[in-house]
Amino acid sequence: MDYKPYQPSSNTPQSNTSSASSQSSAVTTTKPAFSVPSSAFPATPKTSTTTSGGTPTALQFTQSSSSHTTQSTSTASTFNYSPSSSSTNSNQAIPVMTTAELTDLRKLVEDVCGIHLEADKQYLLETRLLKLLIEYDCHTYSQLVQLCRGAKQNELRPKLVDLMTTKETMWFRDEHPYETLKTHILPDLLKNRAPTDTIRIWSAACSTGQEPYSIAMCVNELASSSASYNDLANEQRLRIKGTDIASSAVILSKMGRYDMVAMGRGISDVRKNKFFTQQGRAWVLKDEVKRMIEFEQANLQADLSHLGLFDIIFMRNVAIYFSKEFKVQLYAKLAKQLKPNGYLIIGSTESLLGLETPFKLEMQGKTSFYRLKK
Ligand SMILES: C[S@@+](CC[C@H](N)C(=O)[O-])C[C@H]1O[C@@H](n2cnc3c(N)ncnc32)[C@H](O)[C@@H]1O
Repeated sequence: MDYKPYQPSSNTPQSNTSSASSQSSAVTTTKPAFSVPSSAFPATPKTSTTTSGGTPTALQFTQSSSSHTTQSTSTASTFNYSPSSSSTNSNQAIPVMTTAELTDLRKLVEDVCGIHLEADKQYLLETRLLKLLIEYDCHTYSQLVQLCRGAKQNELRPKLVDLMTTKETMWFRDEHPYETLKTHILPDLLKNRAPTDTIRIWSAACSTGQEPYSIAMCVNELASSSASYNDLANEQRLRIKGTDIASSAVILSKMGRYDMVAMGRGISDVRKNKFFTQQGRAWVLKDEVKRMIEFEQANLQADLSHLGLFDIIFMRNVAIYFSKEFKVQLYAKLAKQLKPNGYLIIGSTESLLGLETPFKLEMQGKTSFYRLKK
């Protein structure tokens, strides 16, 4: 078997940062044997917030290994590995990934969450899966693949998803789509819908909730801008659905509670003060915004017809991770879940160009969106 000793070096490849992972760092353990950057390891959040000295703090997380406790701070830190069993000791070497294992892992990740990794992404797999190798005491990547495909699949697959998904997000990402939502898309839709219809908006792949909450803030602002839009604030008139494959992201979304790092990304002071209350170092969304949204864990590979039909679908900055074949299937599926005259909004750097889909491109100012071909 081919092993290389682990070198805790400054050139350890960094995964993309994510909002979820940016909310976790300072780790306390005993007997650290080696360390790697914590940004590569989004922690598994507990479903409830914890307090420190009776005062609510920012989010706290617990690593699945009981010896690791992770708390949110905005400072960089390292993940310290503390051996949890006699078979994992401080001299444990990190296995080298063979070409066959790389192929198997890429296939596994694509099967489980649709994320298509090119062969040059070996470093990403190594960095993100190290935590699982240690936790499950695997001495080769093949052992990990076997566990994920066999006996431990129910337990391991959600962890694999959490580690392999990039949850990078921010409030009002790219700004102009949200402005266009208020100035063009919602006013246009309301002209085409009966006063008794419920406008349904879906934020597919919503990460830690910033996207659907930004939509909700826009709706709230439009509702209070003129008497003709007042009823948008009514729960029967407009509903937002937020879904994501990563359970940690869905839990954080439901909490609607954000640390200083997340609050430093894209939200103005005016909106911060209008829509949030400060609790210690955390900012919590007010109920009037939270109650507009329902969150649910959902894999875009699955049949999602149970979610029903939507007037607007935001599916931003996620299809970039998928293969061309999956994108074609996915857009065909979304088309079936979009109401006539509905809108599909994708990421500003994304395009459906070159894909066979039922959508046609339209532009409004800087914002491009897609609508069903007639
Ligand atoms: C880069 S974030 C984008 C978040 C947000 N839409 C935005 O634009 O800011 C991508 C999100 O897609 C989710 N994701 C990845 N694969 C998915 C899948 N197969 N089904 C549902 N969500 C998925 C990830 O968990 C992650 O939260």
